[in-house]
Amino acid sequence: MNHILRFIPILCTCVAFAACVQADPVRHMADGHGGASHYTMDPHSFARPDEAVATHLNLDIHVDMGRQRIHGTATYDLKRQSGDSVVFDTYGLSIEKVTLGDGSEAKHALGDSSSMGRALKVALPPGANKVAITYSTGPEAKALQWLSPGQTKDKQHPFLFTQGEAALTRSWIPIQDSPGIRITYDAHVTVPQELMAVMSATNPQERNSEGSYRFRMDKPIPSYLIALAVGDIHFKATGNRTGVYAERSMVDTAAWELADMEKMVEAAEALYGPYRWGRYDVIILPPSFPFGGMENPCLTFATPTIIAGDRTLTSLIAHELAHSWSGNLVTNATWNDFWLNEGFTVYFEHRITEALYGKDYNDMTTVLGYQDLLKTIAEIDSGKHPEDSALHLDLAGRDPDDGMTDVAYEKGYALLRLIESKVGRPDFDAFLRGYFDHFAFQSITTDTFKAYIRKELLGPKQVDLNLDEWIDKPGLPANVLVPTSEKFAEVDKELSRWSTGAPAKGTPAKLLNTQGWNTFQWMHFLRHLPPGETPARMDELDAAFHFSASGNSEILAAWLEQCVKNNYQKAFPKLDEFLTTVGRRKFLIPLYQALIATKEGRERALEIYAHARPNYHSVSVRTIDDLLQWKGPRS
Ligand code: BES
Ligand code: ZN
Repeated sequence: MNHILRFIPILCTCVAFAACVQADPVRHMADGHGGASHYTMDPHSFARPDEAVATHLNLDIHVDMGRQRIHGTATYDLKRQSGDSVVFDTYGLSIEKVTLGDGSEAKHALGDSSSMGRALKVALPPGANKVAITYSTGPEAKALQWLSPGQTKDKQHPFLFTQGEAALTRSWIPIQDSPGIRITYDAHVTVPQELMAVMSATNPQERNSEGSYRFRMDKPIPSYLIALAVGDIHFKATGNRTGVYAERSMVDTAAWELADMEKMVEAAEALYGPYRWGRYDVIILPPSFPFGGMENPCLTFATPTIIAGDRTLTSLIAHELAHSWSGNLVTNATWNDFWLNEGFTVYFEHRITEALYGKDYNDMTTVLGYQDLLKTIAEIDSGKHPEDSALHLDLAGRDPDDGMTDVAYEKGYALLRLIESKVGRPDFDAFLRGYFDHFAFQSITTDTFKAYIRKELLGPKQVDLNLDEWIDKPGLPANVLVPTSEKFAEVDKELSRWSTGAPAKGTPAKLLNTQGWNTFQWMHFLRHLPPGETPARMDELDAAFHFSASGNSEILAAWLEQCVKNNYQKAFPKLDEFLTTVGRRKFLIPLYQALIATKEGRERALEIYAHARPNYHSVSVRTIDDLLQWKGPRS
């Protein structure tokens, strides 16, 4: 895919600029050793850091909530290495002007459009090491979700949030959008006076009357971690260096739910060394946020579906916090190496929750994750890309999002658990601490990891665990450790009391011994309901356990999935409401998948989706469009 395509000049000053840029992103990226000049090839970025790489971004933008547009200037400090140009990624941006450090206009040109956007190539005279790009975002900015007041919790003010991972930042900032390239940034953001802005950086805790906010991130981070949220946002502390941002009516509830944040930071530090980012805060976003959480440095972005009223869904915060080491400190060099981010984070998350909540808790979440993994591998096996159940992927020519499955998370975690079991926990912990220190603020490839662990751990300990098979081959190797949970064995027992014993089946639901069950036990129960239950039996369950009325999103989603599978129509209004308000992709996929298994369900899915779709963020829209083969209106 190295063909050279035509370059479209966008300003009269650029007509004379004859250079061409490849329209397909093919080159680069770094094992970002600060000043290093060797970059790993990133199939998802146009940038050519081996020629010129941005080291610092100064962002000066105005957020126009009414016109749903960001306008401003991104000014970069550059490190020149070779060549006479610098290339940025853009997606749907209008480029107004490009100037050099001395204020003179720079020749520049936009490449042809592709699914990864357009390259912006700027000519650099000898010695030029600053570029300022004035731009505005387009209506299809994939990173941005603009919410009307009605789509927020408090219904008073509009809201905006960004989602950069994987390669979406280029749709709101012209940038070298590759996880192998790190920059520091500072930002000046102006917003309507009644709103507040927060970013993945040092943050204000109070609003100011001008609607003018300044931010600074002085650690080098990859572009996918630059994030912004704007809305009627309020802050409440949960400890000395932790706190919660949320809409006004949510902030106290959220602070109560996330009361353990400070303890989580302490537990994480006790495991793998100091937290290097200053404060750790969380912002609870409106329900359309497409993920459970996103590890934007200093400020995790989170879905309100973790606010269950019982503090049981906070392991998600442990996960996002863990990314402050695995991911934000040591980053995957390309999206093919995504498992290095997520597999390590799931392992670390489990270690934090084990320290806080004990072994039973951890066994349960490990089993649930393993169940997810088996399901995902089975789906991948029967799909178009059976090779995607390898840890190390080849996503060239595809959307990087396609590789972001439970394989990276749970197979990655299974590999690390196996290593832990072979070398023993103390040695594995010492290794991980060294790994985070050694590669701090760098982006590394799977091969770098392999070489490092062989040299530092597996070689000296003479451990053989088929590392190459684990990393490069699809499926699960035979030496995988199959997790078990005693607490789930109790659930299995009660479930079989309810479901066996023909013809009347067994013990009535309300007589089952379910006292003291936690969220995970209920999830396990619901996941293993026998197929083909009658409406009367579903009624019985709902009457005994009030699933339809559950305020716990994990329990409600697991229940609704069973309602669809068993065609339990009484729950359909609730299903409709859930799918219309919640945009968290992890919940949407199984529900829509269950719906489309029958012809009637498929029609229902299309009907619901037609009115739910405008409430979803672009990443959920893309997934559900594909799943339903959506041909309806595009916006
Ligand atoms: N970094 C991910 C979210 C993400 C993944 C965004 C891929 C874009 C592309 C985040 O850390 C994450 O893994 N979130 C999970 C929660 C977690 C507890 C497994 C989620 O959102 O469900
Ligand atoms: Zn994660």
